[in-house]
Amino acid sequence: MRFLITAGPTREHLDPVRFLSNRSSGKMGYALAEAARAHGPVTLVSGPVSLPVPSGVEFVPVVSAAEMAEAVLRHYAEADVVIMAAAVCDFRPKHVAAHKRKKQTMERSLELEPTPDILAELGRRKTRQVLVGFALETENLEASAEEKLRRKNLDWIVANEARALDAATNTVTIIGADGTRESLPELPKRDAAVAILERVLPRRR
Ligand code: CTP
Repeated sequence: MRFLITAGPTREHLDPVRFLSNRSSGKMGYALAEAARAHGPVTLVSGPVSLPVPSGVEFVPVVSAAEMAEAVLRHYAEADVVIMAAAVCDFRPKHVAAHKRKKQTMERSLELEPTPDILAELGRRKTRQVLVGFALETENLEASAEEKLRRKNLDWIVANEARALDAATNTVTIIGADGTRESLPELPKRDAAVAILERVLPRRR
């Protein structure tokens, strides 16, 4: 069974030194990659984080949502289980300057454009892959997660609250397209990763 797992934030640069991003640490995605190694080869596509590269995985570092999309789509056909744990930025600056912007000439508002929704594209192209998304919300957690599960054609979605960001533990609810739903207690991310994999792995080995 081949795994394709994404982790960490993306960075959307507006010039060589400034970017939009988010608080994702990559810990959940890295824990999933480490747990998945016991089940088969793992490709880990990671945004910029300060974690050591896990041994025994194919490691693909990326910066932006566009780079992550390119790397993920390149590895999608051969993957059996795909887990999008990355916190992909939804928007990027429309104009990227080649040189550092100067405050005298800097406009006061940024024009943004949407980034590619990688997971939605994977859902459209899905053949045999088990597709797992993450939903991080500050309100209406489970209803929003279920809506994403359907809209992006996923098999599973892992719902977690914003306090999971950069934390050592996570409290997740795993919702399946088949209507199953299981809330786990607060666990170290390593244990949450093992529990998530136990539930989403296809039973056909
Ligand atoms: N995701 C993605 N590509 C994006 C944005 C998100 O692949 N450009 C993936 C994330 O990796 C995660 C899931 O989609 O698995 C989370 O989606 P999210 O961004 O929270 O949901 P949205 O559909 O963007 O909805 P909203 O911003 O309204 O919450």
